[in-house]
Amino acid sequence: MLGEPASIDETLARLREHRYFANRELATALFLALKMQRPLFLEGEPGVGKTELAKAAAGLCGTTLLRLQCYEGLDTASALYEWDYPRQIMALRLAEASGETPSNDSLYRSEFLLKRPLLQALLPDPANPDARRVLLIDEIDRADEPFEAFLLELLSDFQVSIPEYGTVRAQVPPLVVMTSNRTREVHDALKRRCLYQWIGYPARDVELEIVAARAPEAGQALQARAVAFVHELRTMDLFKAPGVAETIDWCRALAALSVTELDPQSVHDTLGVLLKYQDDLARMDADTLARCLAATP
Ligand SMILES: Nc1ncnc2c1ncn2[C@@H]1O[C@H](COP(=O)(O)OP(=O)(O)O)[C@@H](O)[C@H]1O
Ligand SMILES: [Mg+2]
Repeated sequence: MLGEPASIDETLARLREHRYFANRELATALFLALKMQRPLFLEGEPGVGKTELAKAAAGLCGTTLLRLQCYEGLDTASALYEWDYPRQIMALRLAEASGETPSNDSLYRSEFLLKRPLLQALLPDPANPDARRVLLIDEIDRADEPFEAFLLELLSDFQVSIPEYGTVRAQVPPLVVMTSNRTREVHDALKRRCLYQWIGYPARDVELEIVAARAPEAGQALQARAVAFVHELRTMDLFKAPGVAETIDWCRALAALSVTELDPQSVHDTLGVLLKYQDDLARMDADTLARCLAATP
């Protein structure tokens, strides 16, 4: 489509314009998802940039992101559409008052259709009708299996039929980004329809770029040490290793405390920004902390 990247290098560069720093594999997956019009399935630990990739992809496509957050019990009324009953009843009363007999067509028309993200993704973006829509189906592992089956159908032909209204078919298939934190395995059939990409923790130089863009207030030297420290933490067998989000938060926290040099005291005092489980915090005794600090430049 017009305005979409023509190469992997261009995909990388355009993601950067949206302050997203991807490695080549991820940029390749996104490029192919656009080119082949296939959904992109992203798995990885929390805080590694899955949701953010979808936001950056929407920016790259020149549209605003449509986001469906999954949860147990998510139903089609919240995901697809719902009729605006109060407004329909109002229209019915108005028609009756003026002696008309309202037709089905006048009651089931577009303005009374509350369009949820999955339906919106099939329709053009009013703000930029030429852009491809970008739909994020976030944390699909939280939804239940019947919802997966329903998605599978939607993703196979990008159309839905609404009994009172008719069939809505996407003129241009949306880019669908699905994410999972892998709290359970997602069904094979759904995965098969998608291009799959695992997002791991970023390499040190990439994470440094991310932090430089997202927590510039911390200054280069501190950023470099903080990133090295976090990478050292990730080699430990922690219950929950810090994600990129935590690295950014930590740099911001250190800057807010006017810390310019990482010393044992300031690290100790701010560990709660990086580690969110008491067991992990308990493992960070003075010796371990000193060992991690020694690994920083
Ligand atoms: N590759 C990246 N480039 C830029 N920012 C990133 C990247 N990865 C993570 N982030 C930052 O980390 C935060 C958390 O990422 P998020 O996408 O919410 O993680 P996930 O959805 O995987 O749990 C984002 O708000 C963003 O600021
Ligand atoms: Mg997320």
